Amino acid sequence: MDIIAQLETAKSAPDAPFPLFRKWLSDAESAEVNDPNAMSLATIDSDGTPSIRMVLLKGLDESGFVFYTNRESRKGTALDSNPVAALCFHWKSLRRQVRIEGRVERVSDAESDEYYKTRPLGSRIGAWASDQSRPLESRTHLVDKVSALEAQYQGLEDSIPRPPHWGGYRVIPSSIEFWHDGEFRLHRRVVYTPRTDGAAQGSGWDRKMLYP
Ligand SMILES: Cc1cc2nc3c(=O)[nH]c(=O)nc-3n(C[C@H](O)[C@H](O)[C@H](O)COP(=O)(O)O)c2cc1C
Repeated sequence: MDIIAQLETAKSAPDAPFPLFRKWLSDAESAEVNDPNAMSLATIDSDGTPSIRMVLLKGLDESGFVFYTNRESRKGTALDSNPVAALCFHWKSLRRQVRIEGRVERVSDAESDEYYKTRPLGSRIGAWASDQSRPLESRTHLVDKVSALEAQYQGLEDSIPRPPHWGGYRVIPSSIEFWHDGEFRLHRRVVYTPRTDGAAQGSGWDRKMLYP
């Protein structure tokens, strides 16, 4: 039985959120039919309009949650104006949700390069071909761009450079909430926030339960 599903007080929740998140992600890898690392990503445009879409979690460490995208896309432009985001995982088969909020930083060029190299050829070409979020007059136009790039890089597949407009972002959490379905909507919620008392970041997490 999951620890959060049985929680009586916040004291009995794990001290820190990342090991618990990894456990839930690993449970989702076994339970979900596809994309257990899919998460919704909410951003705020420069005029205050919220927008949301799915992305894939591609990196996770104690500093935050990493995804990759086109930095000139709608979300990239929104993050230039308002470098904050909210993430939400919903694992339907497990009846669990995790919500994360925080500021957003670009990952380093070296880290983006490393990840770009691991992508299949088609995805590396696609990152060059797609002017993500901008109007596309016909599908043929995109297909032709892909063909031209395939011809350009024929024989050089291993050295296709990362497009300068494509890279990662890291959401550095100011809160992480774990939600577990409960009977009669009496769900369990526990929210972690980085401890702000005293010295440095990284000195631990506070946690509390919330009414469902
Ligand atoms: C399950 C799933 C995973 C996705 N993963 C990504 C991703 O990792 N990066 C990305 O740029 N778009 C991803 N997309 C596409 C986005 O949802 C979205 O259509 C695209 O990024 C353009 O969003 P924007 O116009 O708001 O910038 C994914 C879509 C789905 C349904």
